[in-house]
Amino acid sequence: MKRIAVLTSGGDAPGMNAAYRAVVRVCIYHNLEIFGVYKGYQGLIDDEIVQLDVSSVGDIIHRGGTRLRSARCLAFLEDEGFFKAVANIKKHQIDGLVVIGGDGSFRGAQKLSRAGINAVGIPGTIDNDLAYTDYTIGFDTAVNTVVNAIGNLRDTSTSHGNANIVEVMGRHCGDIALYAGLAGGAETIIIPEVGFDIEDIAYKLKRGLERGKQHNIILVAEGIGHPYEIAGEIEKRVNINTRVTVIGHLQRGGSPTAFDRNLGSRMGYHAVKILTAGASSRVIGMKGNQIFDMDIDEALQQEKEIDGSIYELANILSI
Ligand code: ADP
Ligand code: F6P
Repeated sequence: MKRIAVLTSGGDAPGMNAAYRAVVRVCIYHNLEIFGVYKGYQGLIDDEIVQLDVSSVGDIIHRGGTRLRSARCLAFLEDEGFFKAVANIKKHQIDGLVVIGGDGSFRGAQKLSRAGINAVGIPGTIDNDLAYTDYTIGFDTAVNTVVNAIGNLRDTSTSHGNANIVEVMGRHCGDIALYAGLAGGAETIIIPEVGFDIEDIAYKLKRGLERGKQHNIILVAEGIGHPYEIAGEIEKRVNINTRVTVIGHLQRGGSPTAFDRNLGSRMGYHAVKILTAGASSRVIGMKGNQIFDMDIDEALQQEKEIDGSIYELANILSI
């Protein structure tokens, strides 16, 4: 193994830069040549592949987004694009590829592995929707961003006695809503894994109003959709004004937390370690603060479930 390439793909996530930096520096430390692929799989197709040095990743560990840029690349799903990508990897004599991204990006890495390219995945997505790992890079930062937003909304909610319906990201996964809801003391958490009953939400709001509660945060994961409709249904049942906030891409950016920087650095190191030992078709994860790797097919077969005890606890604490 002499030449390794690294790319970031799919939705960007704070901490991707830390992982990228670790991959580059560990390669250079071991006298390997390291190449950066710009804009994810699109860069493989377009041959945007450049050799990197130590300075290429200087001053980025604290930055959100991804210095390598990212893309959702439809062309990679088609044979023509895919085989162009494979040809460019071969042209640059790349022996191993590190893919930093979410489950879609991992499916791309899986396909490349099946085509004979040594590929290893690092989970970089704010969604925390990969079942095989406790955490994905960017999730902790996104949760903290949402918690800060909830803090601001609580101020204004208390001043006016409104109910604030707050939509957060997570695609089909409710983890951002769940963890931010617990940390932010949300009154109600609505996630796709559990669903919701509007009558229960209305009852809880009425009960809160009766005991003089002034603030009401209802956190809705985007997988549920329709935060404005939920607000309307609440106003039909409860004598309260509602306001809707869709946090959106604010929660994708921002300086990564120490947790995400460390996770990215540790996973980046591990990816290079196993690639140079001859591994392919593996993904990196963390369980119980230990970094590990496992077969990509096995990892992608696992079904993500929420931690029911956290949902339960958030409900108990918001009586
Ligand atoms: P994420 O990696 O954050 O889940 P996407 O689902 O958008 O983001 O996936 C990122 C990219 O990975 C896609 O734009 C596409 O190029 C590639 N990809 C997604 N799914 C597949 C698949 N089934 N096979 C091959 N490549 C895929
Ligand atoms: O996968 C990360 C994510 O931020 C999801 O939470 C969200 O559904 C999606 O990406 C938004 O994607 P885009 O920025 O491409 O619209």
